[in-house]
Amino acid sequence: MRVFTTIKSLQKALHDLPNEELIGFVPTMGALHQGHLSLVNSAKSKADVVVVSIFVNPTQFDKEADLVNYPSTLKADLALLKKLDCDFVFTPSVVEMYGENTKSISYDFDGLESVMEGAHRTGHFDGVGTIVKHLFEIVKPDYAFFGEKDFQQLQVIRKLVDIENLKLKIIGIPIHREEDGLAMSSRNTRLTKEYRKAAPFIYKTLLAAKRKFGTKNAQEISEWVTVSFKKHPLLALEYFTIADEETLLPIQNIEPTQKYRAFIAVFAGDIRLIDNIALY
Ligand code: PAJ
Repeated sequence: MRVFTTIKSLQKALHDLPNEELIGFVPTMGALHQGHLSLVNSAKSKADVVVVSIFVNPTQFDKEADLVNYPSTLKADLALLKKLDCDFVFTPSVVEMYGENTKSISYDFDGLESVMEGAHRTGHFDGVGTIVKHLFEIVKPDYAFFGEKDFQQLQVIRKLVDIENLKLKIIGIPIHREEDGLAMSSRNTRLTKEYRKAAPFIYKTLLAAKRKFGTKNAQEISEWVTVSFKKHPLLALEYFTIADEETLLPIQNIEPTQKYRAFIAVFAGDIRLIDNIALY
């Protein structure tokens, strides 16, 4: 496994690869867990060379405190990636990626960027789009792997590839969960014992919403979810939405040809957790 901190050195190593070798790319912000590793394993099974980036991207954070407190475990991350026999790891600095101008490009992703996470985290998808496009330009992968844990991000990246006419395939990977159902997240390590114990309630609620889908309408389900969280002593609901998988717009009438998903964001104290579930 080789670790690169500069664009030039990574590109030289990529350039030296035989032409026919397929490159699989997994962008991350580090603090790696089994969810990230499932992306790396998928990349390994599909590509000849696997590149993982670890870069905490400042422009996608709308709150300074969230950026400052974002967990950083580089040594452990590298050990995990080495165990998986990952080929290249890219760990650039902010200056290496942005130069002196740590700003994002303003994107129009056909509205995908303005709902849910986009509505609650100003500029978030501009930051994600900016860094992912830059990383794609550097790595030039054949495949890039993104988790359904951040389903909205996955759809935004698909749109980015579409509007920028990029020549790579985006592969979505199912959500990896803890045994008690909590979606794995780098932020989970910041939960106190009490909040960590309470957090599986989020997935339990999504499962219940899924069971109700079909017999109850979206508004009834949303109201039920809102009331359930109001009664909860620790967890505060930010949003719950049942939306079309493609447009991410809230469901109007159920169309048999469309796929729907329930999306949720919850505060466990200061820690913001997101999750989603397919309703089919
Ligand atoms: P990060 O939160 O580190 O996540 C990196 C990738 O791992 C994303 O595609 C995310 O969806 C996926 N992932 C995280 N938890 C997962 C889980 N429990 N199951 C399956 N996949 C999971 O997402 C980002 O970083 C950044 O926005 C990034 C794309 C790197 C751009 O900065």
